Amino acid sequence: MSSVKIGVFGCGNMGKALVLGMKSRFPDAEFYLYTPTETKARELAGHVHGHLVRALNEMPSDLHWYVLAFKPQSLDDFQFQFKADSRIISVLAGVSTAKLIQKFSVERVARLMPNTPSSIGEGANLYFLNQSFSKADEIAFVELLGATGRLFKMTTESDLDLTTAFSGSGPALVFELARIFEAELLRMTEGRVDAKEIVAQTFSGSAGLMKSEKSFEELRLQVTSKKGVTHEALEVLKNKDLQGLFREAFEAAYKRTLELSK
Ligand SMILES: NC(=O)c1ccc[n+]([C@@H]2O[C@H](COP(=O)([O-])OP(=O)(O)OC[C@H]3O[C@@H](n4cnc5c(N)ncnc54)[C@H](OP(=O)(O)O)[C@@H]3O)[C@@H](O)[C@H]2O)c1
Repeated sequence: MSSVKIGVFGCGNMGKALVLGMKSRFPDAEFYLYTPTETKARELAGHVHGHLVRALNEMPSDLHWYVLAFKPQSLDDFQFQFKADSRIISVLAGVSTAKLIQKFSVERVARLMPNTPSSIGEGANLYFLNQSFSKADEIAFVELLGATGRLFKMTTESDLDLTTAFSGSGPALVFELARIFEAELLRMTEGRVDAKEIVAQTFSGSAGLMKSEKSFEELRLQVTSKKGVTHEALEVLKNKDLQGLFREAFEAAYKRTLELSK
């Protein structure tokens, strides 16, 4: 694994997070990085002592893995002649393996739905491998991408699409909650307390407890005494049907995933 060679197309938020995660576990891994404007590929190449690929036709065609890490909307413009036996990892939300196999005339396409905590080795990353991958391919894939966080195998591609809004988009929903906590704390204390630090520690401490054996409901009940302070706050959220609001958000995200797959 130490001499693994990986071609990466797209070095934005996700491409960078994955490359940094893999490099931290496999310092000898060699990265070949391409972006149309060169800027992000150059910057990332500097961080990981990688190769800047200035033009698509300069990307070597015999690397161990290729990562597609650009927006699904850029797929139509992206033209690259992969060798038929190339191993491709796509992070493109909603884009099916069937579509990629047809476009690139390859057999082995893995889908990875990572999230941004991958950049600190804490990703909750979903994957689906089509049946052309061997067991040895899967072991190599898990070893390589395991560096970016926990991997969750999806046995069907539709499960990957259904789960995308929860894990891939999940951090954005968590950060939005944190932003609301911070803004309301600042408003109520008229800016006298260090709201960002208090909120960050509350979220990271709670996340630590969430990994215990206890269910999320049990953990919530531990904080909620009858007619107490927390109970008052939760009642407001319940009366406004917070769960219904989240249901709508997840359904809307799934609908968008399906639109992108067309
Ligand atoms: N962000 C997330 O949390 C997240 C989570 C799960 C999955 N994803 C998936 O990750 C992918 C990338 O998202 P992102 O947030 O990293 O986007 P991003 O920050 O906007 O980065 C996109 C990158 O793709 C490059 N690019 C654009 N057109 C290209 C082309 N034709 N060929 C090769 N590279 C091209 C861009 O190059 P320039 O720098 O030259 O513009 C840029 O480096 C998306 O498919 C998304 O569905 C993202």
